[in-house]
Amino acid sequence: MAGYILAIDQGTTSSRAIVFDKKMRIVGSGQKEFPQIYPASGWVEHDPEAIWESVLWSIRKALKEADLEAKAISAIGITNQRETVVVWERESGKPIHNAIVWQDRRTAPTCAKLKREGLEKLFTRKTGLLLDPYFSGTKLSWLLSNVKGARARATKGELCFGTIDTFLIWRLTGGRSFVTDATNASRTLIYNIADNDWDKELLETLRIPAAMLPEVKDCAADFGVTDKSVFGAEVPILGVAGDQQAATIGQACFEPGMMKSTYGTGCFALLNTGADMVRSKNRLLTTIAYRLDGETCYALEGSIFIAGAAVQWLRDGLGVIKKASETGELAEKADPAQDVYLVPAFVGLGAPHWDPDARAAVYGMTRNTGPAEFARAALEAVCYQTRDLLEAMHKDWKRAEGDTVLRVDGGMVASDWTMQRLADILDAPVDRPTILETTAMGAAWLAGSRAGVWPDRAGFAKAWARDRRFEPAMDEKTRAAKVRGWKDAVRRTLG
Ligand code: G3P
Repeated sequence: MAGYILAIDQGTTSSRAIVFDKKMRIVGSGQKEFPQIYPASGWVEHDPEAIWESVLWSIRKALKEADLEAKAISAIGITNQRETVVVWERESGKPIHNAIVWQDRRTAPTCAKLKREGLEKLFTRKTGLLLDPYFSGTKLSWLLSNVKGARARATKGELCFGTIDTFLIWRLTGGRSFVTDATNASRTLIYNIADNDWDKELLETLRIPAAMLPEVKDCAADFGVTDKSVFGAEVPILGVAGDQQAATIGQACFEPGMMKSTYGTGCFALLNTGADMVRSKNRLLTTIAYRLDGETCYALEGSIFIAGAAVQWLRDGLGVIKKASETGELAEKADPAQDVYLVPAFVGLGAPHWDPDARAAVYGMTRNTGPAEFARAALEAVCYQTRDLLEAMHKDWKRAEGDTVLRVDGGMVASDWTMQRLADILDAPVDRPTILETTAMGAAWLAGSRAGVWPDRAGFAKAWARDRRFEPAMDEKTRAAKVRGWKDAVRRTLG
């Protein structure tokens, strides 16, 4: 039986491949980590060849587990870590430098300079983003300035720029397709989200030649066909979206007002605002949730850089837990009388503060403070930060107020304690779906629906099922006191 859909999820720390059957069930998967490269403080790189190898390995593993040959796959959907920049030679396909990862802060001085020149408003108006090193534009400009001859070669059309999706499609199609989708483009700082095109003025400001840019397509479109040499069959690539947008789709947040939050390394909350391109007054991002059939659906996004990474720090940095999954149980044992707060600004703070120079701090420790209080502080920090994002969203878009339910996914949501605390701190219900592979699911749906194998939007939304709803149960006085304590801790950290 053909009709299988392959989703490739190329993330920050690992690559994954998942094979779904016609009924949207997982029948095989593969996952491989690859090295993180830290050439200097605040710099983060990936070797594009290591990414490519890990993707191929994961696909083979997933096919093997599903006991399928590549020809059984009807379509491929790709989702990826966003903003990360790769530049390669058009002729040979060889990268000219390591990929510069979204977490990399090397262009903080460039962003500061552009801000001093009063250019942030212009960038925000056109791209919906802020002048922060997080986004691709300044990273790409850095590459062009720092790799010998790169800018001149790019101008002559000898070099290609891509986010990870573009690079993978180029490789999968044997260099025949040079494309991206609207969601990935919307994270680059050079894409005009109102005109739906690369922006000439911003390209000139960052000195990026248009000749090196890929064609931008809808999220469900013909992105090319895999070269037979890659895994033995010609399979169409029919869906592409950045990972947070793919999770929004996988959570079936298709209606304006619906919201999802993904708790991985960081936490990314997206609120669907439909055709409304909401301009944030509270330092949130305006971004493209998806573009289907030429119609753009926008979102407000809150990006927090550290979520699960704080738990990793408890494990690898402090050594107070052995496994991430122990954290909830440990947090439950924490002394309720101790108000310990962790502001996890290990790599600065993202939304709504956007302070690349802030650093992490712990407040409220006493002689009795131990691992349990640290565990609770790390998990609660994620809840407080989500609350900050939601507050900003409510201020920005009145329609978001009222009966908004947050749909959650990502590794951390397996912990009942954390999800209950999240509902308590938000004072709003939190829905956990039965299928937690929402990111891969979103990419698979884009490809599967376009291939005619999976249901349409309405059918897919109907199939979304809830595992559990967490209702707020904390009394108002306790919540208010805790939130006050958090805000105070953030204020002290920002100085
Ligand atoms: O914007 C960065 C985001 O796309 C990274 O997601 O899941 O790879 O950490 P993840």
